[in-house]
Amino acid sequence: MQKQKISFDLAIYDSQEELPEEYKNLMSVAHKSRLNAYAPYSNFQVGAAVLLDNDEIVIGNNQENASFPSGLCAERVAIFQAGALFPGVPVKAIAVSAASGNVKLARPAAPCGNCRQAIAEYEQKQPKPIKIFMMGETGQVYAVNSLTDLLPLTFGNSYLI
Ligand code: THU
Repeated sequence: MQKQKISFDLAIYDSQEELPEEYKNLMSVAHKSRLNAYAPYSNFQVGAAVLLDNDEIVIGNNQENASFPSGLCAERVAIFQAGALFPGVPVKAIAVSAASGNVKLARPAAPCGNCRQAIAEYEQKQPKPIKIFMMGETGQVYAVNSLTDLLPLTFGNSYLI
């Protein structure tokens, strides 16, 4: 039996201000997009901003439904919209901004498992990894260099070919 440790680098910025300009702006767009979330059931609002290789930014926010599973997370709204508007254009980075109507959220929220799988699909069909920046309403920003950092042993198209 062998054991292999799988680890990744989590970059922790003290605040949004510490981010490189391009990603500071991307996070601002995610914050702004969060304000249009439709989240009457969870009272948890999420905004996502997808930065593409052609420098376009595509936004999304969570869209809930009275039939709960019919709703969709901000990250998937954003990345599917990016795929629909700019097919084949690689994704450079995604910023995720989360807030709660119940408490002041001062820590980052990471994409859920379904969103990680959805983003993995885009990462695997482009040459470069997708950076992910995560933040609450205030406080630190977490950053990873690749989606696979958040979803090791990713299931992908290599199994289906
Ligand atoms: N949500 C997101 O939009 N993104 C995530 O990564 C985590 C959860 C949404 C789904 C639902 O509308 C609400 O947050 C509470 O789960």
